[in-house]
This record gives sequence, structure tokens and C-alpha cells, in this order.
Amino acid sequence: MVKDAITLITQDHRRMEQLFDQLQSVPEQRPYLLDEIEAILTAHSRAEEEEVYPATAEAAHDEAQIRHSTEEHHEAEQLLARLKDCDPNSEEFDDRCREFVDAVKHHVDEEESEVLPALRRAVGEERVKELGIAFSERREQELQRFNMLAPGAIPKQRDLLEEAERLGIGDRADMNADELAEAVQRAKRG
Ligand SMILES: [Fe+2]
Repeated sequence: MVKDAITLITQDHRRMEQLFDQLQSVPEQRPYLLDEIEAILTAHSRAEEEEVYPATAEAAHDEAQIRHSTEEHHEAEQLLARLKDCDPNSEEFDDRCREFVDAVKHHVDEEESEVLPALRRAVGEERVKELGIAFSERREQELQRFNMLAPGAIPKQRDLLEEAERLGIGDRADMNADELAEAVQRAKRG
């Protein structure tokens, strides 16, 4: 079943929060986690800006909110670039990490309490579903561009994605590593 745009966006937000927790609690996995965070954050933001925000601005007559949200995406990307730029075992990393995580959490709160409810009110359920398809296609394209499937990029996810592709599992680009592992197991059982 096709998931609507609001469900897909919220799902990405929860995945991002899980990754933030791991980033803070499992230091040895930081380089791998940062790659996954970068791919998801970028794919999510571009898909949102290109497929969801224009519809929201038009329907809710709120250009200013959307401009503000887009600026926050860029700010988050800059903070992440600064984070990737320092030693993952340094104190500086902890400071920059806190700054990045706080900025993204603030943006997520605003989106879930204001932007997404306004979208649902303005366009209705059917349109939110259509936007879900557009969001998910754009996001998948961006993940591929990001080399999410390339050797060495994101090892665990990469192996699972290859296996999911062999097994013909649709929606695989929208799944996180745990969901992929589950879908692969299910497909193997038949
Ligand atoms: Fe956003």
C-alpha cells in the first residue's frame, strides 16, 4: 500500500532520531552513521523541497513558512558538513554534534506541529497520498545519486539493498536497515 507524504516524512524523522541516539552512544560507528545520516537527510530534504513544500505553500498560502523551513534544511546540511569535518573522538565533535542534532530536532518539531498539519488541512487525504508517491520517487532518486548503492558507501545497508533487489522487493529504498532485513527474511520464507 502506498504511504502518504506525511507518514513517509514522519517515518524519516523517527529514523533520524534513532540514528542521532546511536551517534551519541556508539562512538566507534560514527563515520558509518554520519554517511547514513547525510544520505537520508539530503534525500529527504530535496524530496520535501521539490515535491511537498510547493504544494504546501500554494494550498496553505504560506510562502514564508516554507522559505523558513528550506533555510533550516540548508542550515542542517552545513552543520552536518562541519561535524563530518572533525575528529569523531574529539570534544569538538560532541559540541558540533549537539548543535546539529538540536537544529534538526527543532526543525522536525516545527514541521510536525505546523507545516504538516497545515498541509493536511489544506489539500486533503487524496492529495497527501499523491504527494507521497512523488516524495518517495524523488527521495529514491536522490539516494541513488548519493551512491547509497555503491560499494563501500554504507556496508550493511548496501548488502541488504542488493539482496532486496535480487528478491524483487519494492519500496526497498524507503526502508532502513532493520526494515530491509525483515523484508529480506520474509521474502526468503516465501
Ligand atoms: Fe524538513
